[in-house]
Amino acid sequence: MNAPAWRAPSASEPTLRGLALPNVRMGTAVDDRLLAEDERYRTTLASQFNAITPENAMKWSVLEPARDHYDWGAADRLVEFAEANGQAVYGHTLVWYGSLPSWIDESWSPSQVRAVLRKHVTTVASRYRGRVWAWDVVNEVLAEDGSLRDTIWLRKLGPGYIADAFRWAREADPDARLFINEYGTEGRTKKSDALWRLVRDLRAQGVPIQGVGFQSHLRADQPPTDILGNLRRFAALGVVVAVTELDVRLKLPATPEKLVSQASLYQRVLAACLAVPTCESFTVWGFTDAGSWIPHRYQGYGAACVFDMGMRPKPAHGALVAELRERESASPG
Ligand code: XIL
Repeated sequence: MNAPAWRAPSASEPTLRGLALPNVRMGTAVDDRLLAEDERYRTTLASQFNAITPENAMKWSVLEPARDHYDWGAADRLVEFAEANGQAVYGHTLVWYGSLPSWIDESWSPSQVRAVLRKHVTTVASRYRGRVWAWDVVNEVLAEDGSLRDTIWLRKLGPGYIADAFRWAREADPDARLFINEYGTEGRTKKSDALWRLVRDLRAQGVPIQGVGFQSHLRADQPPTDILGNLRRFAALGVVVAVTELDVRLKLPATPEKLVSQASLYQRVLAACLAVPTCESFTVWGFTDAGSWIPHRYQGYGAACVFDMGMRPKPAHGALVAELRERESASPG
């Protein structure tokens, strides 16, 4: 049987954006190529989401491929699209060990490394000052066992680079929400305990960290334990929380049963976010299976998004709509 052809959603059809609660943005990561080339992608992006995160366009290797030579093209196009469509931009990411340009040199002295990192944070955050709602200031700073991840930043600068990055970002953009972003910390794990302690300590030192992002690259058959309790204990530290990169991968082939279990995990994560008053955004890591990073990263897995390859909504999309509707009818007035 041929699947029905894609068409733009009509005004009466439910969209995530249309049902979004006023205090919780519904976001997605955006793929530059699809944004530039695919009209259907753009229509769905604009109608379904009120926040967007550049999947790769604001990573260091993309912004500064050669030293002191910046290429702002893809990042600017994303910000312009967001502004034209009334969407918030979630900046991703200032300090990471991944996607580093090849000209960064491990043989530099600590003071050279520090100057280069500071310049990067300051240049990027200043450029988008006032146009970016939030920044992932640091991304993936922890190892699986909860110790600080062994990166060029830790090796050269010691643990203080994390606090410094937040201070530099704050100086460059006084209004953006400043986040630490991590994976494998969605449930109660050793790593999430370590993240909790790190955030507590940074706050106690007066570091301007305001939010904790939970990436949430999940597997339908291995859901995290106590997502809600975990979000709550972070919120109790006085930070906002956000789901920043949710996808739920399936071992291929996807079956109707797997799609249903995927839908229920998407819904559980959204329900947890909506149950925490300071969960400010719920972002999926790409909205269509046509652009998802999962098949490239996890062999044998895929079908991780809420729209399929043909941009048709999957059960997971219906589950998010159902969860938003339930909140809508539960809220007074
Ligand atoms: C991934 C992108 O989705 C891929 O296209 C790219 O090749 C590698 O990076 N955690 C993050 C994201 O913080 O930046 C990563 O994005 C996925 C894992």
